[in-house]
Amino acid sequence: MGASREQFGSRLGFILAAAGSAVGIGNLVGFPVGAAKNGGGAFLFMYAIFVFFICLPVMLAEMSVGRNTQKDPLGAYSMLSQRSSKWSIAGWLSIITPFMIAVFYSVITVWILGYLVGAATGDLEALANPDYFGEFINSSQIFVYMIVVLAIMYLILQGGVKQGIEKAAKLMMPALFFMLIGMVIFVLMQDNAMAGVKFYLIPDFSKIDSGVVNGALSQAFFSLSLGMGIMITYGSYINKKADIPGSAKLVALTDTAVAFTAGLMILPAIYSFNPNIQPDELSESSVGLIFTFLPKIFLALQTSVGFVGASIAASVFFLLVFFAAITSLVSIFEVPVAALMSEKRMSRQRALLLCGLLLIILSLMCAVSFGMIDFLTGFMSYAGAEKSFFDVVIDVFYETILPLNGLLICLFVSYRWKKHNLSQELAAGSEGYSASLFEKYVNVSVGTFIPIILLVIFINTVTTKYFGVALIG
Ligand code: PFF
Repeated sequence: MGASREQFGSRLGFILAAAGSAVGIGNLVGFPVGAAKNGGGAFLFMYAIFVFFICLPVMLAEMSVGRNTQKDPLGAYSMLSQRSSKWSIAGWLSIITPFMIAVFYSVITVWILGYLVGAATGDLEALANPDYFGEFINSSQIFVYMIVVLAIMYLILQGGVKQGIEKAAKLMMPALFFMLIGMVIFVLMQDNAMAGVKFYLIPDFSKIDSGVVNGALSQAFFSLSLGMGIMITYGSYINKKADIPGSAKLVALTDTAVAFTAGLMILPAIYSFNPNIQPDELSESSVGLIFTFLPKIFLALQTSVGFVGASIAASVFFLLVFFAAITSLVSIFEVPVAALMSEKRMSRQRALLLCGLLLIILSLMCAVSFGMIDFLTGFMSYAGAEKSFFDVVIDVFYETILPLNGLLICLFVSYRWKKHNLSQELAAGSEGYSASLFEKYVNVSVGTFIPIILLVIFINTVTTKYFGVALIG
């Protein structure tokens, strides 16, 4: 079985695919605004510490479990725990969580495609109208865009690891870097851009409180695609010669660099539009920012570059976000597909069709929960708020179960699989890892303070989200 497993064709392919997963909507929009609102340089500094001291060890744990077992998360937990039923719960969570995240993420990707097409076909003025978003997400157009997004994902994933995932990453990631740099240069040339740069970079430590710390860590964790079974699955597609610590560091670095660079695009753009804007006026959510705030800014660019220039800038921006979203979606969707292939011995085509069908049903349920269908719009209510089906999926899987999955993998590698096995796996292909300071740090952190921190985040999320009692922040 292990011998016939699909593999990435090269180290670069693996790194680009993993970075493609990590670089997503969170980096391009969520991170810049989070940083700007919460202390600028102070937030950036704290975020970088979290990425390298807390998230990187978790990434290493996930990748090494994948490579050691050459299995999907379900099979990996089962194999390394000698089929313990207790640990199979962690395995199942690592399959169900990415699937449900794919559900809401694909809906956002569908909207991005709609805005990309709108901007590219001369509709920027309509997109910039504050009422447009509400109308668009409740229009029948979204079903057409949904078909296109699913077809693109299908086309990539049916090609398998090397011909599908790796090829797409090798094409889309460099294009994404190129467009991002182009946008940064363009935006920095606009009036008042430097005010945005200053605002983004100058540290304000007074903004840092426990809520901001919690938010930064959660953002870093999500941004590196942890707790989603993705790094276990991608790790299972590399061989023993691959240097996991080196590759993981590069993935973390790329992800952080893209997030940082995205800030140099978003904030100067916002400030060139309104030099007196106050941080509180920036939209709280990524969705609000992408779909209502930014189109207004792009339209305003027409005074300096004309309508066509503004439409091109908006199109490049949405294409950039679209590429980031697609490479993330592909990685997350590969998790349940890989599980069905190896656990149920299904062919890739069948696994894709089955998961695709389920995804269509659940994504449609999300897509119509913004007013189209009452039952799904007011799906549940907790902590005094009415929640749509879309909100519930985000609250349960993204906000709550993600840190729990991180906690479980840390406990698993430290206390069930055992640290010497983790070390041995990480040392294979990585000269100098054994007996290094980094090895000691990874072993200690994964078995002690990282799971404790993740447990605190998990408990705080549960009490805040579902009972309205915030322990932190
Ligand atoms: N790292 C991704 C991001 O920042 O957007 C997280 C992610 C989300 C990966 C959804 C995959 C996915 F489907």
